[in-house]
Amino acid sequence: MKEIKIFSPASIANLSCGFDILGVCLNDIGDTIVVRKTSEKGIKILKVTGQKLNTDIYKNVAGVSALALLKETKVNCGFEIEIHKGIKPGSGIGSSAASSAGSVYAINELLGRPYSNKELIKFAIEGEKIASGSAHADNVAAVLLGGFTFVRDSLEFDIFKLNTPIELAFTILHPQIEVKTSESRAIIKNQVPLRKMIVQTANLGAFISGLYTEDYNLIGRSIKDVIIEPLRSILIPKFDKLKEISLSNGALGFGISGSGPSVFALSKGLLNAKKIGNLLKIEYNQLGIEFDIHTSSVNEKGIKIIEYK
Ligand code: HSE
Repeated sequence: MKEIKIFSPASIANLSCGFDILGVCLNDIGDTIVVRKTSEKGIKILKVTGQKLNTDIYKNVAGVSALALLKETKVNCGFEIEIHKGIKPGSGIGSSAASSAGSVYAINELLGRPYSNKELIKFAIEGEKIASGSAHADNVAAVLLGGFTFVRDSLEFDIFKLNTPIELAFTILHPQIEVKTSESRAIIKNQVPLRKMIVQTANLGAFISGLYTEDYNLIGRSIKDVIIEPLRSILIPKFDKLKEISLSNGALGFGISGSGPSVFALSKGLLNAKKIGNLLKIEYNQLGIEFDIHTSSVNEKGIKIIEYK
């Protein structure tokens, strides 16, 4: 096998109650990545289409994660990478994670899979580090493992997949304004009052319990963020209004997707997610900011192979 084409999906990190530790993988939105073996050693990024991004392997997250993999792996060939970005950087739906996880997934396949998808997280996280200045694994874990994922310890890579209640569906509204993860992280406070810590951990525990008992109402009640959302939501035009519309029209929960500016509503059933999407669209049309709306059920598989050559 000399060439592989993969689809590396978007993801939602945090899910309100799990800052830096919860993630979920989405369908349909994502990057398409082609990786070819070359006789010349090393990594090359031949081209990036869809978005203007650096092809320097030390500056592009896909190059950085690929280099991290090659540093630990004995190979007598090199790899060239082509990236078609389907996710805009700075969107809050895991653009850097899709590229950094996608390149290492593809190289691992071409090498005959020396690493498990879980083991690939430690290489993919290197890309996240240069994109946001922080080694959070919430998006890359969701992309590489699929479904809902939990990061107990990102330094020890104690990361695992959670249960998915089948009817959960997301509506994602992406305002076309860029919010860099590094900037969105800079406005967060380092100290958390005990009272808020109690509320947040209670919601996180209940959310995970809800995933396993498939208790949709409990999941909805637990999608709350008393720590980060009040600080970050000011960066998102009409955040409070979008939340009110979603929750008063049957959404189970609503929050910021990753570090924003995308927001998500969680519903029971794709039809309800589409209905919420239409209502959010009507509201955002009045604003004069361009935006995209996506609906997605949970992608249980994560990265998908499109073709081998
Ligand atoms: N957990 C990270 C954050 C996700 O919220 O900053 C960024 O993609």
